[in-house]
Amino acid sequence: MKYFQQMKEKAIELKEKDEILILAIESSCDETSAAVVKNGREIMSNIIASQIETHKIYGGVVPEIASRKHVEVINEVIRCALDEANVEKERLDAIAVTYGPGLVGALLVGVSVAKGLAFGLSLPLIGVHHIEGHISANFLQYKELEPPFVCLIVSGGHTQIVNVIDYGHYQLIGQTLDDAAGEAFDKVARILGLGYPGGPAIDRIAKEGNPEAISFPRANVKDRPYDFSFSGLKTAVINYLHNMEQRGETYSKADVAASFQEAVIDVLVEKTISSAIMSDQKRVVLAGGVAANSLLRKRMKEETDKHKMQLYCPPPDLCTDNAAMIASAGYYNLLQEKVSPLSLNAIPYLSLINEGIL
Ligand code: KG4
Ligand code: ZN
Repeated sequence: MKYFQQMKEKAIELKEKDEILILAIESSCDETSAAVVKNGREIMSNIIASQIETHKIYGGVVPEIASRKHVEVINEVIRCALDEANVEKERLDAIAVTYGPGLVGALLVGVSVAKGLAFGLSLPLIGVHHIEGHISANFLQYKELEPPFVCLIVSGGHTQIVNVIDYGHYQLIGQTLDDAAGEAFDKVARILGLGYPGGPAIDRIAKEGNPEAISFPRANVKDRPYDFSFSGLKTAVINYLHNMEQRGETYSKADVAASFQEAVIDVLVEKTISSAIMSDQKRVVLAGGVAANSLLRKRMKEETDKHKMQLYCPPPDLCTDNAAMIASAGYYNLLQEKVSPLSLNAIPYLSLINEGIL
């Protein structure tokens, strides 16, 4: 019998098991990560090897270098994840891996290693959507959380408001028409000379600035109340800096960072709350690297409290890329028998949405 058919049958049998251990691998961008997670909710290990120091000198991620770095460390990262969890590979029940979206060369490293492990150990291979992983980080933090809920996804490549109807069932409410929120943070940080990655740098310096110093635009898209646009804001920051320089005036980087951050967070909070009201949801979930932003967390908490909604937000280290979130998403895929064939490929552009727009 072919591997795929055998693994489909194994997935059905696994549903009867009390304890399911998944080893997950994440290598979609500049973090090489491996984790062991029990029953989709309990982290036994979550090893993250960051490449930030390597890419810093270039001011952003260099895809070719990212792939090579993943190749260098991935075996060691997996070994550490198994050691820290104190789990022999024979005890594993499935291998989950991010197969998109992301940098194709980087994704291929994780996908190839996961295929080798799954085939060698005769375990089901589960391809996971990276953003589904970010959403699932909340299941690791909040054991009681179950769909349905409204989720704001804010990462380096994504800005979407999604109605999570059930595990693996996503309906789009709104999305960015140009830059992602994280991308805007990274670009503005670069213009201000704050280095890479820009989000944490802006978050830090903004604490010393006045968020009302400069009035940057809150972009609203005509007739699309739940959609975002951040490119105009980015241009407004560039224009402001050019004008100041041309006039020979000095400006405060902290004020620019704080005013920019305020403009982004205002829009993210306002549209997420109105999406929750419109879709009649009382639970609001945050996901993705920008969800680590301290102002976003604070303001979202204030607004959800005001509207008697419950806010769920993973701790900062589970907001950014890690393999534990991929294991959690992989667990729910496994329960739905979504096993991948060994022909699984890396898909740099992969959509999350599988239900029509709300
Ligand atoms: O989810 P993530 O780790 O990777 C992607 O899937 O893209 O998100 C990375 C993004 C980067 O743009 C980074 O600048 C941003 O998340 N980020 C932050 C913060 N921490 C990370 N943005 C704002 N404030 C932060 N504290
Ligand atoms: Zn990510």
